[in-house]
Amino acid sequence: MNPILTIKRRYALDEIEGLRYFKSVQWLESMDSTNKQLARSVRENATPLPALLVADRQNSGVGRGSHQWWSPEGCLMFSMAIPVEGSEPVAADNASTEPLVSSALLPLRVGCTVAECLEHFSAAKPMVKWPNDVYLSGRKVCGVLIEIIPKQATAPSVAIIGIGINCTVDLRDAPSDVQTNATSLHEWSKHGSTAPVSTEEVLVQFVHHWIALDQRQKENPRWLLEYWPERSLLDGQWVEVKHPGGIAKGRCLGINESGAILIQNEQLEVTEVLAGTIQSFRPL
Ligand code: BTN
Repeated sequence: MNPILTIKRRYALDEIEGLRYFKSVQWLESMDSTNKQLARSVRENATPLPALLVADRQNSGVGRGSHQWWSPEGCLMFSMAIPVEGSEPVAADNASTEPLVSSALLPLRVGCTVAECLEHFSAAKPMVKWPNDVYLSGRKVCGVLIEIIPKQATAPSVAIIGIGINCTVDLRDAPSDVQTNATSLHEWSKHGSTAPVSTEEVLVQFVHHWIALDQRQKENPRWLLEYWPERSLLDGQWVEVKHPGGIAKGRCLGINESGAILIQNEQLEVTEVLAGTIQSFRPL
């Protein structure tokens, strides 16, 4: 790594460690996938929580469903391991120091945090495609993959939250479907192409926003429901959602209290989909 990059990285890690939210922070050159690696560490009780793991390269990055995550240079790829609610009480000596994040609405909250973070850099307004992809000007700039490791004995349930953000990715090298649907933050930089956004800067911003929104959640547990319409890419659009019970098509009315997307068909019947995949969407 060149010396300037080394300094930049050290600076970013120092700033994140100084915030004292994560008990473990690591930025490594290469691994299979930050989600897989962090999940292994959590299962083996090998990392204090919350933990943050970043990689320059992934040789087996995972996406939602059966997809792989194309993991090129210039993509910020990281995972957080966060204890979530629904856990057994933790051991008394840990209880006061371990933040417990509510797992309800977690995917939407992650998407909104990325969107707020990217607003800092982007001239285009970042929007969240339910439940948590982030888009700039109609193209995907960030994907999120959340896995829950169920509670064991005295250990809480842990969410492994994997995030990939195209910061300075050259999409000319991408697979064709990525070229068609994706974008990279540097193309929308507020500061022009002379000051491309670095993965380090974006990570530091993300962590600041994650902590701030964690605090907002504690002060007002309903903030996300109030905030969502402002960030939702799909509200008012025609969408097609695949879910375990079939396919729902119609106008997106927003979300309910559980974070389920609401789809109204032509007969004005509303389907609530808590877990599903958006197949397509378009303005009405
Ligand atoms: C999606 O399909 O949109 C989700 C993509 C999630 C990619 C990130 S990159 C960091 C973390 N490690 C992985 O292997 N996947 C997630």
